[in-house]
Amino acid sequence: MIQFQQVEKRFTPTLSALAAINLEIHKGELVLLCGPSGAGKSTLLKLIYREEEPSAGAVIVAGQNLKTLNSQGVARLRRRIGLVFQEFKLQANLTALENIALAAEVAGVTKRAAHERGSQLLDELGMAARRDAKPAALSGGEQQRIAVARALVNRPNLILADEPTGNLDAAAAADTLRLFKAIRQQDSTIIIASHDVNLFQDIATRVVQLDQGRIVADSAAGVGTAEWRL
Ligand SMILES: Nc1ncnc2c1ncn2[C@@H]1O[C@H](COP(=O)(O)OP(=O)(O)O)[C@@H](O)[C@H]1O
Ligand SMILES: [Mg+2]
Repeated sequence: MIQFQQVEKRFTPTLSALAAINLEIHKGELVLLCGPSGAGKSTLLKLIYREEEPSAGAVIVAGQNLKTLNSQGVARLRRRIGLVFQEFKLQANLTALENIALAAEVAGVTKRAAHERGSQLLDELGMAARRDAKPAALSGGEQQRIAVARALVNRPNLILADEPTGNLDAAAAADTLRLFKAIRQQDSTIIIASHDVNLFQDIATRVVQLDQGRIVADSAAGVGTAEWRL
């Protein structure tokens, strides 16, 4: 599903945000990408949805080297990926339902079908009663539910979440965790970047740890810190 081959990303000549990244993520995995702030977690995710391009090496998603994509290809790639961010990124002037439906409409679904799909997701996520509420009237946890619903509306087979609980209190974070657990039952690949290892550890099928731009541990590949030090 996703391959990183000797990927390096430099934002400045002297500092590698990512270095020597070799990583293969398969369909159905729920990967927890952890590591301290500045480790390169967000950069790694951005390379997958081509918000950033590698300075060296190749990123391959669903068999396609992302370097070969033109702007149309990038748009197509992003429609197939569900993105969830720490800061929710909901449109303040739209209702919960409209926020979800808009993502489907942008992907070419008719307004009517988009609203139907949005309503169904709100039902499934226990948010039906809040469908006409604007984001400002929703709690952080509710806003994140809407953001997750929006990420799911185009039925992506890849979901990327960058610090999805970063702005939530413990109760809402646990709620979001349950949500990822629930959507995991569908046949999707999920990558969650979080510095909160403990929170996601139990639902992750694999934990990949970054530090200073390098993979220092990978529970699937049996890569440990000691080995990396060689
Ligand atoms: N757009 C950018 N310009 C310059 N440096 C950046 C940029 N984005 C990230 N970095 C640097 O790359 C490193 C990794 O950042 P990031 O991927 O955001 O880490 P994390 O998400 O693990 O906190 C950090 O040193 C950060 O300062
Ligand atoms: Mg980050």
